[in-house]
Amino acid sequence: PEFLDELRNRVSLAEVVGKRVALKKRGRNFLGLCPFHREKTPSFNVHDDKGFYHCFGCQTHGDVIDFVMRTENVTFPEAVEKIAGLAGMKLPAPSPREAERDRETRSLNQVLEAAAHWFAEQLKSPAGSAARKYLEDRGLTEAQISRFRLGFAPEKRGALKAALVAQGFPEKMLIDSGLVIVPDEGGDSFDRFRGRVMFPITERRGRVIAFGGRAMGDIKPKYLNSPETALFHKGRVLYNLANALPAARAGGEIIVAEGYMDVIALDQAGFQNAVAPLGTALTEDQMMELWRVADEPILCFDGDDAGLRAAGSAAQRAVPLLKPGHSLRFALLPAGEDPDSLLRKEGPEAITRVLEAASPLAWMLWTLETAGKAIDTPERRAQLRQTLERLAGGIKDPGVRNEYRRHFERRCDELFGPLPVGGSRPFDRGRQQSGRQRPGRPGSGPPRGPSTVPSTIQGQGTKVRIDADEILQKTLLAAVINHPALLDEICEDIGIIELSAPDLDRLRQAVLDISGQSGLDSETLKNHLREQGFSGELRAVLRADVYQHSGFARPDTALEIVRKGWDGAFGKYQLPILSAQVREAEEAVARDTTPENQQRFYDLKKRLYELQQKAREWTG
Ligand code: UTP
Ligand code: MN
Repeated sequence: PEFLDELRNRVSLAEVVGKRVALKKRGRNFLGLCPFHREKTPSFNVHDDKGFYHCFGCQTHGDVIDFVMRTENVTFPEAVEKIAGLAGMKLPAPSPREAERDRETRSLNQVLEAAAHWFAEQLKSPAGSAARKYLEDRGLTEAQISRFRLGFAPEKRGALKAALVAQGFPEKMLIDSGLVIVPDEGGDSFDRFRGRVMFPITERRGRVIAFGGRAMGDIKPKYLNSPETALFHKGRVLYNLANALPAARAGGEIIVAEGYMDVIALDQAGFQNAVAPLGTALTEDQMMELWRVADEPILCFDGDDAGLRAAGSAAQRAVPLLKPGHSLRFALLPAGEDPDSLLRKEGPEAITRVLEAASPLAWMLWTLETAGKAIDTPERRAQLRQTLERLAGGIKDPGVRNEYRRHFERRCDELFGPLPVGGSRPFDRGRQQSGRQRPGRPGSGPPRGPSTVPSTIQGQGTKVRIDADEILQKTLLAAVINHPALLDEICEDIGIIELSAPDLDRLRQAVLDISGQSGLDSETLKNHLREQGFSGELRAVLRADVYQHSGFARPDTALEIVRKGWDGAFGKYQLPILSAQVREAEEAVARDTTPENQQRFYDLKKRLYELQQKAREWTG
């Protein structure tokens, strides 16, 4: 502490700041444009005699050490070292305990470096041929393998241990570094990583601190990572940050993907500014680290439920930390893709498109809170406003908090719009009371005020044409003919599907025509249909092979299960159509990146995820 005081006294804060910010003298202080947020009129005050700065615009303040850490993106000890250099001061000798700790971490670094080196050698050796083949099959070039220092851990239990011991590293160090495991039951320690492709994990300056190991087959876990050690704290590290820093700093942009392979694929495709957390949700520490490099890191997560969830949780977690100018953006990938797979399929342009269409955090939060919510009564609307108000209230920075409040208020006003003619709308039938939400379907009555926030947009009057396999078409018909009690709820669904076989489609039409009569039982319905000449079609539909394919359509299935099954099957039918709409919307965004187009794209995409989920449940 004495040394730091001396340091702060010796250097002039105004001088250090003055190297980066044009300062004007104002009384006893200096004033300039704040380097931490964008501004046109200066509100950045430097109190040289007191040794601190304060920005009235973004509330940032600190001393000379903070200033150097922030502006030069260095750690505390690095900043101290720099400033001491400026002041011509020598750093104090570390206490014996610090020296000890220093020596230990330094030697842990050495073990890990040696291990990385050894793994890389194994990959080149004959023992590594399968691993080389694996990487080659995944499209990795030599350049990538060496840039990412990829390696191979052979299957043998103590191969690494033997090699490192032979190099003079004591066993304890191998254990402390996480490379070697001591079995709980006692006995010889052994290599943690075996039969895996090795990904060295480095800290910000490129020193190896841990490893991730990818199994080459279908072995669980797919990735095995180093345990937490003195050097490795999973929640604080971003994979590939050291490599990504130059490109990220130069372009002012950084991409966050989900996995090792995504980062490497992105790098290979020319996106050198990509990093990834290590299989966990993005932590506060990681976000702070990202903001030291770029104002608005772009999260580019997998196009599946997990990816969407991860994006959502990152969005929530960022809320308290927001600062003027500091935010996140979200680039959602097409369903089922991760950056790696999208690149292999469609090339770098596809990634550029996705990145350019990235949505702001404010949009993400709004969508998370509102999509599919009922807003058909004053109470529900008030509730939505309250939720959003609480969300905005969680932002610590007063400026950003205010802006978010106003933003959400405006969006609510816009969404709720003028009151619908004739007052609010009565509840829909049973399925809405049971808390289920249906997206707006075309052609249903006169326009009213919105009753739910649309989670999808469908073209007015679009007929959804089904060309999937026949047995699924029969399933849908069988389900409804065996369970006419559902007709009322699903007649909208039946109304928009168009079956590819003309005779089945006529049967569908006939069922739909009858659906107006309430209280029909299955036998009566079938009799009506037979009277209209559909006996042959009925036989073709109500068959053992149909039931075998999809049990829910059977006459004896409980209604709740039929309902679920219907949702799944219907969802499955809509998938290809919706996918096409998503592609269209994506192209629209690429052509013309308006907020409307983006909204439409993501709304459709969200609906697609939901459908995929349902279709999976149904298949399962
Ligand atoms: P993914 O399953 O998306 O992996 O997990 P990936 O990077 O796309 O890998 P490939 O393409 O299947 O080889 C994303 C990240 O989650 C962590 C890893 O950091 C991985 O990169 N993870 C995943 C684990 O730590 N353990 C696992 O078993 C799986
Ligand atoms: Mn992945």
